[in-house]
Amino acid sequence: MNRLDGKVALISGAARGIGAETAKLMVEAGARVAIGDVLDERGRDTARALGDGALYHHLDVTREEDWSDAVTATAAGFGGIDILVNNAGMFLGKGIEEASVDEWHRLAAINLTGVFLGTKLTLPALRERARNSEYGSAIVNLASVAGLVGSQLDPLYSMTKGGVTLFTKSTALEFARKGYRIRVNSIHPGVIQTDMGEQTFTARARNLGSNDVDDARRIALTTHPIGRLGVTNDIAKGIVFLASDDAAFMTGAGLVIDGGLTAQ
Ligand SMILES: NC(=O)c1ccc[n+]([C@@H]2O[C@H](COP(=O)([O-])OP(=O)(O)OC[C@H]3O[C@@H](n4cnc5c(N)ncnc54)[C@H](O)[C@@H]3O)[C@@H](O)[C@H]2O)c1
Repeated sequence: MNRLDGKVALISGAARGIGAETAKLMVEAGARVAIGDVLDERGRDTARALGDGALYHHLDVTREEDWSDAVTATAAGFGGIDILVNNAGMFLGKGIEEASVDEWHRLAAINLTGVFLGTKLTLPALRERARNSEYGSAIVNLASVAGLVGSQLDPLYSMTKGGVTLFTKSTALEFARKGYRIRVNSIHPGVIQTDMGEQTFTARARNLGSNDVDDARRIALTTHPIGRLGVTNDIAKGIVFLASDDAAFMTGAGLVIDGGLTAQ
């Protein structure tokens, strides 16, 4: 189950966090993985730890030429691309009155333009491999619970993730209509303990006016009925599943992995 033998994946923002754990699980599942990020040293270390099954290439997801180079490097290293994971993202943690237009442009460039460019620039490689594989190629987009329900912490982040949610469904429909054999699905994590998870606690503490990050973490925990916050492995397993042929009949879907947060 959930095997990726012979598959090649390109994962954006995989130097650390959810992306790095996904790269690890994918290599364990038999895939070869290209890690793209702006954190070059961390990204190289992450790839090195995974051995011959992984390579690192610098990738700023907001830059078309970086995507082009990353796709070329992945194809040169591993022979093509079957799986794209649009994982790179940023969290702002500011309300409407605090956020500036420049901050919005940066957020939108990474969380929205980055997903558009990743999809567009890897598309020829994904189509090429889809022709000769039994169930085709796959794209997995990292949305969020904040792409399904509103976020009191960061309405601008929520706007970008809501965009990713419907971009996922729309590209799934477009590629199906065109017969490309590329499935597109999204993942919707609750609060996951990563650097970004920590940023959400800091933002919550600021909103509380206490700047007590431990208290903010406790409050975040109470919003997850399952009784704990998420870890990267919880999300990476879902990404591997959506990327694998076990999800062959899934496209345009959203997989919610949130400890019950949005069930309330
Ligand atoms: N952690 C959570 O609670 C949570 C919840 C819901 C959704 N998500 C989503 O999951 C994804 C991964 O988040 P994470 O928690 O691992 O965060 P993280 O901050 O630990 O990792 C994000 C990675 O993206 C990279 N990145 C940032 N800007 C980039 C750019 N311009 N080009 C390339 N790489 C860039 C960072 O360097 C980092 O390696 C994001 O899309 C995030 O929005 C996270």
